[in-house]
Formats: sequence, C-alpha cells, structure tokens
Amino acid sequence: MSDSIADIVNGVVDGSLSDEQVIRYLKKIFDEGLDEYSTIKLTESMRDSGQVLSWPKEWSHLVVDKHSTGGVGDKVSIVLAPALAACGLKVPMISGRGLGHTGGTLDKLESIAGFRVDLSIDQMRVQIEQIGLAMIGQTDALVPADRRMYALRDVTNTIASIPLITSSIVSKKAAEGLSALVLDVKHGRAAFMEDRKQAQALGQSMADVANGMGISTSVVLSTMDQPLGCAVGNALEIVESVETLCGRGPHDLEELVCVQGGILLEASGIVEDMDKGALMIHNSLNDSSAFTKFLEMVDAQGGNHDDFASDYSMLSSLGLLDENLLSTEIYADKNGWIDDIDAMSIALACLELGSGRKVLTDTVDHSVGAIIEAQIGDEVDIGDTLIVIYHRNELPKGLSESVCSAFSISSEPVDLESRITQIIR
Ligand code: URA
Repeated sequence: MSDSIADIVNGVVDGSLSDEQVIRYLKKIFDEGLDEYSTIKLTESMRDSGQVLSWPKEWSHLVVDKHSTGGVGDKVSIVLAPALAACGLKVPMISGRGLGHTGGTLDKLESIAGFRVDLSIDQMRVQIEQIGLAMIGQTDALVPADRRMYALRDVTNTIASIPLITSSIVSKKAAEGLSALVLDVKHGRAAFMEDRKQAQALGQSMADVANGMGISTSVVLSTMDQPLGCAVGNALEIVESVETLCGRGPHDLEELVCVQGGILLEASGIVEDMDKGALMIHNSLNDSSAFTKFLEMVDAQGGNHDDFASDYSMLSSLGLLDENLLSTEIYADKNGWIDDIDAMSIALACLELGSGRKVLTDTVDHSVGAIIEAQIGDEVDIGDTLIVIYHRNELPKGLSESVCSAFSISSEPVDLESRITQIIR
C-alpha cells in the first residue's frame, strides 16, 4: 500500500477519487492497521497536501507546539503557550473547538471580548515574529486531505483507528513546521481513550511517526477522570488560566504546564534537562513574564485587554463573568475527605447549560459553567460548598443531583496523586 500512498492522498485532495474509493481505503486501514513506515508516508503525504509553514533559519530548533487529546477543564494550552514564548520559544499554536463533553481552546479564547482566532497564516507569521506566539483555528490552507478524510471517517465509524488518528493529528502539527512537539494523551472516564493501554499505544504511535518525520516528540500520559483544575466552562477557564499565569493556579494544572513546557525547553536545547525546563516555566508563571506574553497575545489578536488590566486576582473584577448569571451552590451531605469528582458528570451538566456543543452547529454560551470549591483530598464538613454552578436560566430538573453525585466523600484522608502516569520520550 505504501507505494501508492502519495497518489491516494493526491486523489483525496484533487477530487479524482470518489467518496466510495476513499472510504474503501480508510476501511482497509481501519480493519488491517498500517505499519509504522506506511503511517509515516501517509502522514507526510497528508502534511504536504496543503501549505507547510517555514520559519527563519535561526529558529530551526525553537518552533514548538503541543497537542492534547482533550478533556474536561483542560486549559493547559492557554497557560503553556505564553509561558513557552516567555522562555524564548516560538509557538504557532493551531487549536480546535469543543464538541460533546470536551472543551475547545478556541471557544475558551473567544470568551475574551473581541479575541480573533481567524488570523491568516501571514498574520500569524508576523505576530510570531513580533511576540513569539499566536493561537488560531485551523485554516483551509493547511492539510486539506485531513478535512475530507476526517469527514468520511466520521460518517463511516472509522475514527477509532490508531494509524488514522496518528496521521490526522501529526500531519496537522507537522504542517506548522515544528522542531519539537509534546503530546498530552489523556486516559480515564472523560478521555477520548478511556483505557490506559490504548492511550499508551496511541501516544507511542504518534511519537514514533512524529520523531520519524524529524520532529523531536515526547508524550505525557495523564489521567482524565476528574476535571483539570477547578474551573469548567469557557470564561471561567480563562479566569483560571490567568490565575495560573500569575502563579496562583491549581496544582494539577500547573504541574502539567511545567512538565510539558520543561520537555519542550529541553528538546529545543534551551536547558539541559526537563527538570531545569520545568523550573524555568514555573519561574515564568511567578515573575509575570508569562502573563505579560498572554496580554501581548490578547492585544495582538484584538481581545479586550482592559478586562485583565486591574485586579486580576478577583474573579468578578475580570469582566469575564456575566453579572446576569444565576448561581447555585451544591453542598456536602456528609463529613470526610473528597476522594473523587467525576469529570464526565460535571462536563455533561455544563454541556446541558450551554457551555459546549452537542452538534457542531450549536452556539456556545461562554459564561456558564462551574467552579469546584472542594478538590480531591480536601476535608469537608456537612454543608460546605462543593461546587458553584453558573447558569442562565432555571436549572434543568435533576442537574443539581447529578452534579452532587459526581462528588465522592471518603471517611479516610485521601493522598494526592500526580495526574501524570507516564512520560514517553
Ligand atoms: N482529532 C483529530 O484531529 N483527528 C482524529 O483523527 C482524532 C482526533
């Protein structure tokens, strides 16, 4: 199959292959798999189906990005990209929108009034030369082959194939002209891949293919059973991202940012090892350099910068929270220690309130969502607030009960564990 891969991808893009022919090809890969050599050929052909970005020679080791397989409360990109730029790296980050229970970076950024994610490639290039980062949506110019292939996979139930997912994700990252990439592959109840072994196989496949294409790539496997951080919902997640950019973020979010950033700083040769890199990222969150980069990006992409200018430690002073929203607190019904918070129940409740899309054409209410007040390991008494739900209308029947049942309270103290289960390098 490998000899004709480039021809097939050309046929996908120039329309000389019919939908039936493309589907036959996709089904063959779905049923039989694809070896590493052929997956690299497929991914390279997909990358070359559109524009491939190139950067000044002196940046040859500095252009980096990350990809997450997605989850609940996953705002790592919004903190990591400015922190990387503050440490001297160049970050052309192309992200996606949320669908189903999974949030999307673009939707979160668009909760900042005026923020534009539809920059052209040329505008992105100029912005990266000026400030070191840009966060935009997928453009028609990059990897057109993936658009047709993904749409056909979607309607033929052939999404869940490791070589097809690998070629889809890695071709889009490779088209950014990266020198290094970190992949955050989640596993757990609210992850794209629930099973850790499957997530590991996907991570290994993406790392093998991206490294085989000359991009220095590592994988961080991390759990997605509980929401990441405390905020779920677009504007609320921007507020938590700002808090994290100012050194006051929740521990689990900060750990993922520092570790992924440390890996990229090592891969770029800026530091000798990832621990030194993680420290450098941590420092950028505490000396306001990462936050300054974030403000520069908001400004450059048309966002209302004033929202962040004054007292950003007060959530309500950010102007991101809608004063017309209603709020409902959910209380602990027994004494003990929080030992689980089911991300899926919280995500589905927020989706019901309008924070995400059930189908691609849905519009998003950027303001609604939830703030978790009692995190894993916290000791609570009966009547303590577990979570505050921000909503626009009366809560749908049963929603409070389902959010309350997301929390499990143990009679024993609970040890805090890292969300990172493995790093593949
Ligand atoms: N995300 C992608 O971009 N492609 C896939 O195939 C799956 C998830």
